[in-house]
Amino acid sequence: MKTTFAGALLSLFALASAVAGKPELVDRTGDLHFTCPKSCKFPTHSEPHCSIIKPCGFDCTNGYLPHPLLFPTKCVCTWPFTECNGKCGIFKACPSKGHHKRDLPATNAQCPVGHSACGIVGRATGSWECIDTQKDLESCGGCLLSTTGAFDEQDGQDCTAIEGVSDVSCVRGSCMVKKCMHGYEVDESNSSCQPIERTKNKSLFSVAKDVLAVEYGA
Ligand SMILES: *[C@@H]1O[C@H](CO)[C@@H](O)[C@H](O)[C@H]1NC(C)=O
Ligand SMILES: *[C@@H]1O[C@H](CO)[C@@H](O)[C@H](O)[C@H]1NC(C)=O
Repeated sequence: MKTTFAGALLSLFALASAVAGKPELVDRTGDLHFTCPKSCKFPTHSEPHCSIIKPCGFDCTNGYLPHPLLFPTKCVCTWPFTECNGKCGIFKACPSKGHHKRDLPATNAQCPVGHSACGIVGRATGSWECIDTQKDLESCGGCLLSTTGAFDEQDGQDCTAIEGVSDVSCVRGSCMVKKCMHGYEVDESNSSCQPIERTKNKSLFSVAKDVLAVEYGA
């Protein structure tokens, strides 16, 4: 019953809109001749669409839907739609929010340009996220896990897992070591930390000092 009632009201509304669109409202130049009153307030994601019947009427834009349906006061984005960059629709992932974790099959994984669909470590098989492997510290240069959850043997590197590293970044898909922990030094290619050969011409005292420094961070 409710559905029929709402349906009837909707039809009434459609009829009213149709009437509003009739030539009475069109002036001699053929333009719609109704100005929105200054007191009108329009919600976000809408554009004014005023008529005699709905003086402060509006249309929702960018896929947003009027709410409530009969006498809308705002434009909303509800299930199954989601918001992404000011638009409402079906999005698998929203690039502006960085890593958008999704538990969806990756068969039609769509990632923004420059991003790859990578499996998520420690999550169920099939979980994936869009990663910028040119900059991602833990998937530098490629996915660490493929979308099927298998270890990707291609070229993904976890920069934080480099032995002895203390400050590292992922630059254009390569780990760039800036600083190593005490007892290590950055190698020539800035890609790893090499243990400093302490016994190489050092007094026993300085070796002991280095060991203590590593142990206690002195
Ligand atoms: C390593 O880093 C240093 C200091 O940031 C820089 O001067 C040098 O050119 C880098 N070497 C390579 C191979 O990138
Ligand atoms: C090792 O250090 C001593 C002084 O502590 C110095 O005389 C010697 O030349 C050094 N050897 C090398 C190979 O650097």
